[in-house]
Amino acid sequence: MNKEFTINPDACFSKQEQKASQYFQELYGQVAEKTFIPILTKDFAEWKHNHIQPPTIFSLFSRRKGKEVSSGYQHYIHWLNQTGKLDDYLDRSVSYLYMRDLGKSLEAPETLAGIRSSVESLKKHLTGKNKEKIGIFSMASLYRFAEKEGIEPTMIWLMDKLRSVSANIPAGMDAANAQRKLIKIIAGVIMHVLDDLEDGAESAIRSQKLSEAIKLGFSYGLTYPFIDDLFDAKILSSEEERQYSHLIRTALTSGNVPELGEWRGDNAELIFYIHAELREAFEYIKANQREEMITPFLEQAYVFFQSQEVDRHKNLSNRKYTNEDLFIPVILKSSSSRLIVRSVISAQLEEGFESRSFFYGIYNQLADDFADMFDDWQDGSVTPYTYYMKHHGTRSDLINPYELYWTVISHLIHNVYNSDRKTCEVILDRAINGLKRFKKKWGTEKYNQTMELFASAMPEFNRIIQKMVKRADDVDFFDKLLRDHMVGILQSDRAEHEQFFEQVKTVRSQINSAMTIESSENSLFAEPLTDGANYSLNGDGKRLRPIMTWFMGVHGYGLDGKQILPLLRSLEYMHTASLIFDDLPSQDNANIRRGRQTLHQVTNIAVAELTGLFLTQRAVEEQTSLSSFDPKTVLRLIEYSSKRTADMCKGQAMDLDSKGKILTLEELNRKSFYKTGMAFEVCLIMPAILAKADEAEMDIWKKFSYHAGIAFQIKDDLLDVEGDTSQLGKQAGIDADNNQTTFVSILGIDGAKMAMWEHYCLAVETLEQAPRNPAFLKYLLDYFVNRDR
Ligand code: IPE
Ligand code: IPE
Ligand code: MG
Ligand code: MG
Ligand code: MG
Repeated sequence: MNKEFTINPDACFSKQEQKASQYFQELYGQVAEKTFIPILTKDFAEWKHNHIQPPTIFSLFSRRKGKEVSSGYQHYIHWLNQTGKLDDYLDRSVSYLYMRDLGKSLEAPETLAGIRSSVESLKKHLTGKNKEKIGIFSMASLYRFAEKEGIEPTMIWLMDKLRSVSANIPAGMDAANAQRKLIKIIAGVIMHVLDDLEDGAESAIRSQKLSEAIKLGFSYGLTYPFIDDLFDAKILSSEEERQYSHLIRTALTSGNVPELGEWRGDNAELIFYIHAELREAFEYIKANQREEMITPFLEQAYVFFQSQEVDRHKNLSNRKYTNEDLFIPVILKSSSSRLIVRSVISAQLEEGFESRSFFYGIYNQLADDFADMFDDWQDGSVTPYTYYMKHHGTRSDLINPYELYWTVISHLIHNVYNSDRKTCEVILDRAINGLKRFKKKWGTEKYNQTMELFASAMPEFNRIIQKMVKRADDVDFFDKLLRDHMVGILQSDRAEHEQFFEQVKTVRSQINSAMTIESSENSLFAEPLTDGANYSLNGDGKRLRPIMTWFMGVHGYGLDGKQILPLLRSLEYMHTASLIFDDLPSQDNANIRRGRQTLHQVTNIAVAELTGLFLTQRAVEEQTSLSSFDPKTVLRLIEYSSKRTADMCKGQAMDLDSKGKILTLEELNRKSFYKTGMAFEVCLIMPAILAKADEAEMDIWKKFSYHAGIAFQIKDDLLDVEGDTSQLGKQAGIDADNNQTTFVSILGIDGAKMAMWEHYCLAVETLEQAPRNPAFLKYLLDYFVNRDR
C-alpha cells in the first residue's frame, strides 16, 4: 500500500475554523446574557442535597466526621471502601471518563451498562487481594497484566520504548509528566478499543486488539512529549523550531515523514532520535489504519498541530487579540485531539460523536487552563485566562473565560446532554472538584484573589459556588488521584534510580582502586600470574557482584564498608577466574573480554589456567582476612562459598555438555542457576552470614537471586544476539558460533524475553515477602534486565 495521501492544509483548517467559529458565536450569545446563572443556580440547588450535610448540633462543636484528612493512594481507596463511598466514587469517575474520553452520552442504556461493568472490575482490582502490592505502574504489574491478556511481546516492546523515551527526554523537560501523559494516552486508546470490542469476543481477538491499541496509543502519544512539550520547553533555538515545525507540517500535509537532512542547531542528536521514533510511529499508524481513515487522520492532526502553533506564537503583551483569536484555537485543538484518537484506531464515528467532541473539548480545555493558569502566566503563555488577567483592565470587550467556562457547562448539560440528571451530577462534581483542587494547590489567599478577578461580576452565583467549594463532599475523582499518585511515583522513582546509580559509581570506583594484586616484595623474577590476574581484573568489568555485596552488607545489614573490603575483593577474584576459564579454547574459545584480548591470547593457555587457579586461591585468602568478624562466622562463610564455587564448576560443565542439545525449560533454568545465578546468591548470602541474619531471611535472598540470576543470564544470551562486540566488550554472536544451547537458541528471541520478564516478576514478587525491602535490589534487578552490556 504505497498510496499517496496529501491534504489541503488551508482548506481543512478553515473548514474546521468555521465550525468552531459558529459554535463560539453560540456560546458568545449565552455568555453575554449570562443565561447560565439562573440555570446552574437551579441545578446546584438540587445537586447540593447529595453533597452537603445539614449541620447538626454535634457537628457545630466537633470536627466534621466522614472526611478523609490524610491522603495517600491506598489509604484513600481503603477509606472510601470502609465508609461505603467507593461505589459512588468509582461510578462518578468512570462516567466522567466515558464522557470525556469516549465521547459517550450517559443517556444511553448500553453506556450505563458499560460503566457498571467497568466500575465492578475496577473495584475488584482495587480491593482484591493482590491490590497494589507491586505498584500499578511497575514493570512487574504491567507484565503480569500482559500475561493475563496474552500480549507479552507487545508489553515488552512497550517497556523498551518507554525506557528509551524516558532516557531521551532532555533535561529541561518534565520527564515524569511526559511519561504520565504517554501512559494516559495509551490507556485512553485501550479504553476506546475495549469499548468497541464486542462482549464475549474471542480471547485471541481481544489480545490482538489490545496489542494494536498499545502500539497505536504509544505511536500517537509520542507526539505529546516530542512535539507539544518539546516546543513548550523552549529547548530548541528559534532556527531549530522553524526547521522542526516545517518537518512536522510536511509530514502531515504530504502523508510522509521526510528525511531529516542536515540539521542546523545544537540539538541534532535529540532531533535524530525523535525523528526516527516519530517516523516509526507515523508509519505504524498509517499501516494499521483503514485506508479511508488516513485522510481524516492527517487533517485532524494538521488542525491539532496548527492550532497549537497559533497559540504558541502568541505574545501575552500583544493588546490586539480578539475573543475569536483567543477561543477558536482552544476549540480546535481540544476537539481535534479527541477526533484523532478515533481515527487512529479506525473507529466508526458514532452518531453525535463529532459534535460532542466539539462541545466537550472546550469545556475540558478551559478546566485545564484554569488549573494551570499561574504556571502558564509564569511561562508567558497565552491562554484565555492569562490574557484576561493581563488585559481585562483595558479591554472591556474581552470575554471573561471563567464565565465562559460556566456557560459551556450549562450548555453541555442542557443543550448537548438534554438535561440528563446523571450528566448534570457528574459535571457539577467535576467543576466543584476543580475549584477545590485549585484552592488546595495555591492556598486560600491566592484562590480568593483569583475569584475576585474572575467572579466579581456575578456575586450571587459566586456565593453559591464558594459555599459548595467549602462544604460539598464526595466530588473526588479517581483519575485525579491516579494522576497525582502516578506523577509522585514516576518522580520519586526517577530520583531514587539516579541516586542509586550515583552510589553505584562511587562504590565501583572504590572497588576498582582496591582490586589490584601487589607483586610479592623483592621479587627478582617476572610474575606472570600476578600480571595475568591484574590484566584480567583491570579490564572494564561491571563489578556487579562486589557492588551487590556492598549494598547488602552496608545498606542491608549495616556492616562497615572497610571491614568487608576483603570480601568484595574475593568475589571479584572468583568471578574473574570464572571468566578466564570460560574463555579458554576448551570452553567458549573467546578472544575478547572486558574490552581487551582474552588472557590466554595475550599469554598462553597454561598461564591463563594457572591464573584462574591463582585467583580462586587468592579469593579464599581474602576471606580469611576478614579479621573484624568472629572466626566461627568466617569459617561458616568460607564453607558456604567453597561449596557454591564447586557447584558453579558443575554449572559450567552442564553448559558445555549441553552444546547442540535441546533442553527443557527446567534444564535451562537449572543450568543457568548453577553457572550464573549462584554467584549472585553468594553475593547476598555472604554479607548475611557475616551479619548473622536468620535463615528465613536468607531463604528469601536465595529465592530472589535464583530468579534475578537466571534473568541476568537470559539477558546475557540476548545481548549475544542483539548487542555488538564493541558495546559488550566481549564477542557478540559467539554462542551461535559455538552451537551453544541458550535461552535464545531454545526459545527464540521473543520467547527468551518472555522468560526473562517472568523471572523478573518472580524476583520482584519475592522481594515483597522480605522483612526488610532493600530498594537497591529492585534497582539492581531493573539494571539486570535493562542493561545494554
Ligand atoms: C559475565 O558476567 C558472565 C556471565 C555470568 C554471563 P558479567 O556480565 O558480570 O561480566 P563483567 O564482570 O562485567 O565482565
Ligand atoms: C558464563 O556464561 C558463566 C560464567 C559465570 C563464566 P557465558 O559463557 O554466557 O558468559 P559470557 O557471555 O562469556 O560472559
Ligand atoms: Mg560459557
Ligand atoms: Mg562465555
Ligand atoms: Mg554469554
